[in-house]
Amino acid sequence: MLSTFSKLGVRPLAAGARCLTSLSEPSAPHLVTSSIPGPRSLQLKKELQDIQNADAVQLFVDYEKSIGNYLVDADGNTFLDCYTQISSLPLGYNHPAMIQAVTSPKNISTFVNRPALGILPPENHVERLRHSLLSVAPAGLSEVQTMACGSCSNENAFKAVFIKYMADQRNGRAPSPEELESCRYNKSPGSPNLSILSFDGSFHGRTFGCLSTTHSKPIHKLDIPSFDWPIAKYPRYKFPLEQNVAENAAEDKKCLAHVEELIEEWSKKGSPVAGLIVEPIQGEGGDNRASDEFFRALKDLTERKGVIFICDEVQTGCGPTGKWWAHEYWGMSTPPDIVCFSKKMLTGGYYYKTEVRPKEAYRIFNTWVGDPTKLLLLEEVIKVVKRENLLKNIQESGAAMLNGMLELSKKYPAMSNVRGRGTFCAADMATPGDRDKLVKQLHLQGVHCGGSGEKSLRLRTALTFQKKHADLFLERLETVLKTF
Ligand SMILES: Cc1ncc(COP(=O)(O)O)c(C=O)c1O
Repeated sequence: MLSTFSKLGVRPLAAGARCLTSLSEPSAPHLVTSSIPGPRSLQLKKELQDIQNADAVQLFVDYEKSIGNYLVDADGNTFLDCYTQISSLPLGYNHPAMIQAVTSPKNISTFVNRPALGILPPENHVERLRHSLLSVAPAGLSEVQTMACGSCSNENAFKAVFIKYMADQRNGRAPSPEELESCRYNKSPGSPNLSILSFDGSFHGRTFGCLSTTHSKPIHKLDIPSFDWPIAKYPRYKFPLEQNVAENAAEDKKCLAHVEELIEEWSKKGSPVAGLIVEPIQGEGGDNRASDEFFRALKDLTERKGVIFICDEVQTGCGPTGKWWAHEYWGMSTPPDIVCFSKKMLTGGYYYKTEVRPKEAYRIFNTWVGDPTKLLLLEEVIKVVKRENLLKNIQESGAAMLNGMLELSKKYPAMSNVRGRGTFCAADMATPGDRDKLVKQLHLQGVHCGGSGEKSLRLRTALTFQKKHADLFLERLETVLKTF
């Protein structure tokens, strides 16, 4: 394995080396099959279909050969990866710092012995939390709970919100025997009627509670029972933003009023809103962005109403917008009450304000509650991001990407509504079919991108994505747009 990596030019890091530039990435995409997916990917997909539904599989990947910002598929095609495992690769493929961490003898026991972290954490767990998650904690939040994935982070954040709400209601009294008995049978008062408010177009995951707050596409929700929880309108802006300031400000106001109305309505219905969850940019729902003013006003509103504010940074967290947390752009005087993360952070989990910590053991718990190997790798990611100033890199490459896409949208009206922060960028095509065609044609140009919402193209790069990669992407995008 190691020798394969050294053949690829993946070498252990010399102290202070800038891997961003020293990594032996290809200089451009290179396709060896005339159609994508190629025959090897198609054959493997057929074999996987015998075992499970594999309809979502796009390509089989050669993870040994993939490197930096370039993904190599099972047929040997090399793509510039502007999607990075649905926004989940902070440093691209086979980063030397990660390989060094995985192959270091001192880390072997961490990889071999996965603990039931909630009851038997490793001796260095506190130190590791401090060097990884807590070193990038959102300002004002000093506690963190680890989890496995994005959905289970949000799901457990909801539980923490409900537990706090009921603890406040009891005001120090112990749960009654009736509460303790009734909850075993899903009945009130032990299982109370409480709700989480979410926004139309949102995506917060696929577990039961999360799915009740997810409103992006029917395919996620069809046939699954849901909680009757309030769904507020999320701002839908007119583009270009600079030319529609008054109209978009009115849209913010309308949506805020709707949130307030729903909080009152659900309280009257006997299912008070205990928490609200929102993405800084709705990712799966189509890269819909609300203004910083909207979020500041929303936070104020939740404070006035005694509703816990959950910021879902599963997709926006860990730097793709050019700041570690997208909510840092909002300029709020107090932080969100809870910030959930996963994807690029490698581990799932959530930061929370102290008041949200449950008083009893086992209330927020499962067997793994995260994975120390992911904290070990996250620690390496954080060191590289800081040493190589990768947030600044993303601001620069993001500006190049956004400006370039804006220019292209002026030249080729088939693409419109270019938007984004950092390299967390998107644009709309006229129809869902056009968007799907664009993504396919980009594959044939050696660029791997994704779609989001109904008809948006979405870009989710690694933090090592540089201006030269943005230029290459733009050149290939223009070649494809010419065919529309
Ligand atoms: C904003 C947001 N929240 C939650 C999730 C769910 O994360 P996971 O797929 O890890 O369960 C996602 C996944 O795309 C997401 O984008």
